[in-house]
Amino acid sequence: MSQPIARWLEEDTAEPLYVRGDARAILAGLPAACVDLCMTSPPYWGHRRYAAGGLGEEPGLGDYLDGLLAVLAEVRRVLRPTGSLWLNLGDSYRQKALQGVPWRVAIALMDQQRWILRNDVIWHKVKGGPDNARDKLRPMHEHLFHFVKQRKGYFYDDDAIRSPPGETRVEEGGVISATGVRGVRYRRQIRRSNALSGEEKAAAEAALDATLADLAAGRIGDFRMVIRKQQRATHSDAEAVSGRARELAERGFYVLPYHPKGAKLGDVWDIVPEDTHRRTVHFAPYPEALCRVPILATCPPGGVVLDPFCGTGTTVRVAQALGRRGLGVDLAEAYLALARG
Ligand SMILES: C[S@@+](CC[C@H](N)C(=O)[O-])C[C@H]1O[C@@H](n2cnc3c(N)ncnc32)[C@H](O)[C@@H]1O
Repeated sequence: MSQPIARWLEEDTAEPLYVRGDARAILAGLPAACVDLCMTSPPYWGHRRYAAGGLGEEPGLGDYLDGLLAVLAEVRRVLRPTGSLWLNLGDSYRQKALQGVPWRVAIALMDQQRWILRNDVIWHKVKGGPDNARDKLRPMHEHLFHFVKQRKGYFYDDDAIRSPPGETRVEEGGVISATGVRGVRYRRQIRRSNALSGEEKAAAEAALDATLADLAAGRIGDFRMVIRKQQRATHSDAEAVSGRARELAERGFYVLPYHPKGAKLGDVWDIVPEDTHRRTVHFAPYPEALCRVPILATCPPGGVVLDPFCGTGTTVRVAQALGRRGLGVDLAEAYLALARG
């Protein structure tokens, strides 16, 4: 291992480290299990020529895939068992045919390297790029795959990435959830229902009272209620496959409590690509917003975040801002100079 990297890993400094070199060779020099998170966007196949060339310029897709998979095998080795890999990859066309490159890589990682795929996040670019073709749609998304090394016990802080819940308030002695639910309509529906027995009505009202008490005390963030023949359920009606359908059939209602710390994040992210000064030197920096969730959720505070294709250092910069230690590798000194600032 090179002296500066060895020292940096031991030192526990908050200063990021940028290393110039080929990702595979640099990673091969790192000890096993020294990194908590790898977040990266490798060069896409056949898209552009970077300042120092490198991956992505191979004439054949097979050679590109071999090169990229060799780097990701090293990533797997240097990642701790509790670690995560977040891989952002765009697709390429050849003779009008979309090559499915992100999926080819993802499937090879699962089949050949035993990675476990936890999410396929769709990065919706909102504005998208220009596209003059008149016989296909305009591309508006890219994939961001989340991989782990083990099925259980990998680091994941789901509370760190919840959208903050709205405020519950009290008006005229009654509690009202952030989305305006106060229970009055549910109570009326229960009382007027022809589809509930007297016993079911009493149980439904008792459940509603208990839920409102939980809301007032902050034990839940919000709630919805599904009452027989009133609300349309989103689950299957088949009682054999859906516990909710069974509850509805047997009790006449169920309550859906929402987490007190806010809603769980979905797997489609609307993020407009940044148009920063870094673009004048580098074609393809990704937005800082893309790195926030992976780092907050899957790297412990103070942990090491690696980007083996770091370009202008976006991953490393966000890692540092969020109290993690960033290690960036790139072939091109011009990009690293920009990253160091
Ligand atoms: C898509 S860009 C990454 C951009 C980066 N996420 C950012 O926000 O600036 C891919 C980078 O990989 C670098 N690269 C290409 N081949 C490489 C190799 N074999 N080893 C290390 N870096 C390489 C390129 O110089 C380029 O900066």
